[in-house]
Amino acid sequence: MIIPTLLTLLLASSPGPSARAKAIVAQLTLEEKVGLLTGVAGNYSGNLAGIPRLDVPALGMNDGPQGFRASTHGTSTAFPCALAVAAGWDATNARAFGEAIGTEFAAKGAGMMLGPALNVARLPTCGRNFEYLSGEDGGTLGAVMAAAVVGGVQSKGVIANAKHYVQNNQEYARSSVDAIVDERTHVEIYLPPFEAAVEAGVGSVMCSYNRVTIVPPFAAATYACEDPFTLTHELKERLGFGGFVVSDWGATHSTVASALAGLDMEMGSEKYYGKKLIAAVQAGHVNESAVDEKAERVLRTMIRIGPFDHTFTGNAAANVTSAAHRALARSLAAAGTVLLRNSKVGGSTGAAVLPLRHGGAPYTLCVAGGAADSVGALSGGGSGFVVGSHSTTYLEGIRTRAAAAGATVNIPSDSSIEAAQACAAAADVALVFVGTWSHESQDRDTLALTQFDQSLCAYTLQKNPHTVIVMTSPGALIVPWLENGMYLGGNAPPAALITFMPGQEAGHAVADVLWGDVNPSARLPVTLPNVDNEISLTKAMYPGVGPDVSHLRANYSERLEVGYRWYHTHGVKPAYAFGHGLSYTSFTYAVLSKEVEEPPGQTEGGGRERVVATIDFTLTNTGSRAGAEVAQLYTSFPASAGEPPVQLRNFTKIQLAAGASVRISFEVSERDLSVWDVEAGAWALVHGAHQLAVGAASDDLRLHVTVHA
Ligand code: BGC
Repeated sequence: MIIPTLLTLLLASSPGPSARAKAIVAQLTLEEKVGLLTGVAGNYSGNLAGIPRLDVPALGMNDGPQGFRASTHGTSTAFPCALAVAAGWDATNARAFGEAIGTEFAAKGAGMMLGPALNVARLPTCGRNFEYLSGEDGGTLGAVMAAAVVGGVQSKGVIANAKHYVQNNQEYARSSVDAIVDERTHVEIYLPPFEAAVEAGVGSVMCSYNRVTIVPPFAAATYACEDPFTLTHELKERLGFGGFVVSDWGATHSTVASALAGLDMEMGSEKYYGKKLIAAVQAGHVNESAVDEKAERVLRTMIRIGPFDHTFTGNAAANVTSAAHRALARSLAAAGTVLLRNSKVGGSTGAAVLPLRHGGAPYTLCVAGGAADSVGALSGGGSGFVVGSHSTTYLEGIRTRAAAAGATVNIPSDSSIEAAQACAAAADVALVFVGTWSHESQDRDTLALTQFDQSLCAYTLQKNPHTVIVMTSPGALIVPWLENGMYLGGNAPPAALITFMPGQEAGHAVADVLWGDVNPSARLPVTLPNVDNEISLTKAMYPGVGPDVSHLRANYSERLEVGYRWYHTHGVKPAYAFGHGLSYTSFTYAVLSKEVEEPPGQTEGGGRERVVATIDFTLTNTGSRAGAEVAQLYTSFPASAGEPPVQLRNFTKIQLAAGASVRISFEVSERDLSVWDVEAGAWALVHGAHQLAVGAASDDLRLHVTVHA
C-alpha cells in the first residue's frame, strides 16, 4: 500500500492557478476587476496596479524583444536583435537568450516582457523586421524560435508576450491599414509562430494596431484588437490560449466590441476600458461574467508563470547586465553573423581572405566605412531599442583582437573615399563596414545601401583585392554586386558578412568571426534579393489602396508566396537564398533513407504529433576545422495541393569536429504534409507523392526522397 506523504497531501489540496484566480476574482469589486484590465501610469512601458487588500501585486511590463528598454537609468544588456538570433538557427541559443532577458527583467522588477515579436517578414522593407524571430518562415524557423524564447523568458518567472497578433506586416499606416488575407494563407504562413508560442505556454498575446480581414470574412476590416475571429475563435478557442490578450499601446478602439471580441486588457491609454468598461457592464452591454473571465485570465497567468508569487524586488533603474550576459550577447552575435561569401583571391590556387591570420609575419589591416566606429546601427530603433551597458564598436573589437594576432590596424585619415583607398592600398586586408538602420513605425524606402557606401566598397576593392565587406542591417539588403561584381571593372569582393543588428558586443563578435575564433554557422532567415521589390508587390498589395492613408486596404494576393516561397514559385534566383550561409569548413550530406509509417488517416489537431516518416542521412565535416552545419529539411507537395514548390519543415544545427560524421534523423509529421482546409476549419493531409529534400539552404538541396501519403 502506498501511504501518501504530508507533501503529496498538501500538493493535492493546494489549489492550482485557475482555482486561486477564481477565488480571488470572487472577492473583487467590479472596479477592482476592471483595474486588472486597464493600464495605469508607472515606471515601465506598461503598468498594472495591484490590489493590496488581497495581496495582488502590481505588474510591470516592459519592452522589448531584445533586452530591457530603459526609460530611466540603470544598465541592461543590448542583445543582438531577434532576427540575428533567428539567423543562428539554434534553439538552444534562443532559449539562452530568453533566459538571460527573463533574468534581467526579473531583476528590474518587471513581471512581463513585451516580446518575443513574431510577425513574418512578408515585406522585405518592413521597418521592424529586425525585431521579429520568424524571418520569412513562421512555420518552422519562427515556431522553433518562438517556443525557445518563450520557454527561456518564462523559466525566470517573467510572463512573455507574443506580439503583434496579427497580420502586422508593415509599419506604413500600421494603425489603420486593413490586411486582407485569405484564411489558408493566414493559418499556414502567419499564424504558426503564435501557435507555437501558445503551445509553449506563453502567458500573453499582444493584439496589433492594424485592421484585419480574414477571407472569407467573419468580420471585415476589424481592428485586430476587436476581431472576434482571430482573438476568440482562433486564439482562445481553437488554439486553446489560456493567457490574456493585451492591446498594443493605443490599439484599442472600442469598449463593448473589444470586450466581446476577446480583448482582455487595454494598454497605452485608458480611453476604452477603465471607467467606460465599468459603465458598459452597469448598462448591461457587457456581462460581468465576461469581465470575471478576463480578470481570471490575468491572475491565472500571473500565478502560473510567476509574478504573483515571486517578489521582484528590483526596480527599473537597477543595474542588471552581467559579465555572463555580455558574453552571451557576444556569442549570440557571432552565431548570428552570416558569412555570405569567402572566395579565394587569385583563382583556385589562391587563398581565402578569411579567417584572418592568427600570427606569423606581422600584417596590416585597414578598417574603413562609417559603420566601423559607430554604435548607431547596432540596435534598431523604437520600442525594440536597448541602451547597452557598454557598446563595443566594430573598430574597438577589431583593435583588441588584432593586437593578439600581431596585426596593425589603420583607419582612413577622414571619411572620404580617397582616404579609404589610401588606407586600403597600404594594408594587407581591408575591412569595409557599411550598413543601414530602421525603426518602428516606418518602413525602409529601399533595401539598397547608400550610393556612398556602395562606392566605398567598389573603390576600396579597386585598391586592395583582399577586401572584406561587413554589413549591418535590420533585414534584407540588395547586394547582387557581391557575387556579380561591382561596376568598377566588374570585381567582386572576395568575402562578405552580414551581422544584422548585433547589439552591444558587435565589435568582439565580428572579430571572433573574422579571425575564426568562432567558425561562422549562421544562415539567412530572409532572402537577399537582386533588386527592390523583386517579389512584385503592387500598390494594392503594399502599402494598399484606399481613399486616404487612414483607409488603406492591403491585399495579400500573393497568398502563400511569401519570401523564399515566391522565389521558388517564380524560378527567380536571388542574390542569396533563404537558409544560405558559409563556414570555414565544408560539409557533405550522404545516403538519404526513409522509413514510412502506416498510411495515416486524418487525426485531430492537424497531426503535429503524428510521425508519418523518418528521414535519415549522414553529415560529414570534410574540412580541416571544427564547425557547425544547419541541416535543413524542405518538402514539396503534390502539384494538386497548390502549395509553393519548397517549404522548410525542419532543421538542426550540428557541431562537428574536423573529419567527423553524424547520422541525423528528421521526423516528418502528418501536419508537415497537410494544408489548411478552410471549409472544414481543419488541417487536411494531402494524399499523393511528397518530395522531401535535405540540404544546406533552400537553393542547395543535396538529398531527395519521395514519401507517399
Ligand atoms: C509597439 C509595441 C510595444 C509598445 C509598448 C508599441 O508602439 O508596437 O511593440 O510593445 O509600443 O512600448
